[in-house]
Amino acid sequence: MQVSQEDFEKAQEQLKLLKKDPGNETKLKLYALFKQATEGPCNSPKPGMLDFVKKAKWDAWNSLGNLSQDNAKQQYTELVSSLLSAESSDRKKDASPEESTHDGYETIQVTTKNNITKIMFNRPDKKNAINHKMYREIIKALEEAGKDDSTIAVITGNGDYYSSGNDLNNFTNVQPSEMEKMAKDGAVLLKEFVGHFIDFPKPLVAVVNGPAIGICVTVLGLCDIVYASDRATFHSPFSQLGQSPEGCSSYLFPKIMGLAKANEVLLFNKKLTAAEACAQGLVTEVFPDRTFQKEVWARLEAYASLPKNSLAVSKQLLRSMEKEKLHAVNSKECEVLKERWLSDECINAIVSFFQKKSKL
Ligand code: COA
Repeated sequence: MQVSQEDFEKAQEQLKLLKKDPGNETKLKLYALFKQATEGPCNSPKPGMLDFVKKAKWDAWNSLGNLSQDNAKQQYTELVSSLLSAESSDRKKDASPEESTHDGYETIQVTTKNNITKIMFNRPDKKNAINHKMYREIIKALEEAGKDDSTIAVITGNGDYYSSGNDLNNFTNVQPSEMEKMAKDGAVLLKEFVGHFIDFPKPLVAVVNGPAIGICVTVLGLCDIVYASDRATFHSPFSQLGQSPEGCSSYLFPKIMGLAKANEVLLFNKKLTAAEACAQGLVTEVFPDRTFQKEVWARLEAYASLPKNSLAVSKQLLRSMEKEKLHAVNSKECEVLKERWLSDECINAIVSFFQKKSKL
């Protein structure tokens, strides 16, 4: 179908709306088609070899030979229209990058968008307590996120809590004859869980949206950045529960905050505010809760546009000297915990948690 003079003129106006430079080759093509459409075949003398710009323009026009003016108008109009539609679809892509949801999870939600894989604890009615299924799903999600195309991975919680830590129901409904097996299996699962944090190959960021308790506090030492809402608190009530530290915290917390402060946290159940956790080096930065999500995600999106491989090798360098040590600490902590879970101190503490609840 032939384009009208009106369409041709409209295309000339539309060309001015292009935001991005289409590149020299396309600009020469547009020039040549415009000249052919308005003046017919190239009729000016060939410019000298050293007049590069004029020569390139002349060559482009001349290459159209005897193309008719109507055909030139048509090709010009089509070229402008294709440039505009390519630009508008690029703009749409930039405005709403696709979020892909990873299937097969029940207790967590895993999504990838803007080069970030987000692993979100998703049992908000249980304050995101981590039951056995959730431990396994987090392990699987970390494995996938370590291998996928994302630049960084983020762990966060859905609802008002980041996570209330180990689900204390993991210890209930166990027959006395099954206690040993429960403790042994629990230690194997915990060791694998923490091992995945130690070995995670790219930057791992914790976005602590609310209170954090137990295991989800201790593994923060294995995360590369920890951003916290000012509503977050950090509590590891191990002795209160007759238990002992995990997540490599027995080694990393004294390194991060100094032994004197780590002792209060790990031995005497001191709950830290977000500001205290930041002052002691466990948290990278604290944000007002009102603007927490907006500020943190804007920052993470900027980080995630940095070169992916450079970030991964740099993270691995920073952690490589410690890896063997961390695996040894993890094994030792799990061994001690296996014994603790069978102790009267621990069993009584858990019974008392559920008794208190049933009295309410
Ligand atoms: N294990 C098992 N269940 C948990 C849990 C946990 N770690 N954390 C929260 N829940 C459950 C509660 O039992 C309750 O379940 P229900 O609705 O079936 O009764 C639900 O989540 C909501 O918690 P609730 O206690 O009603 O809310 P709260 O605001 O009064 O208190 C906590 C929240 C987190 C302070 C309190 O639940 C708690 O102390 N949990 C135990 C934390 C803990 O000791 N973790 C282990 C660390 S090593």
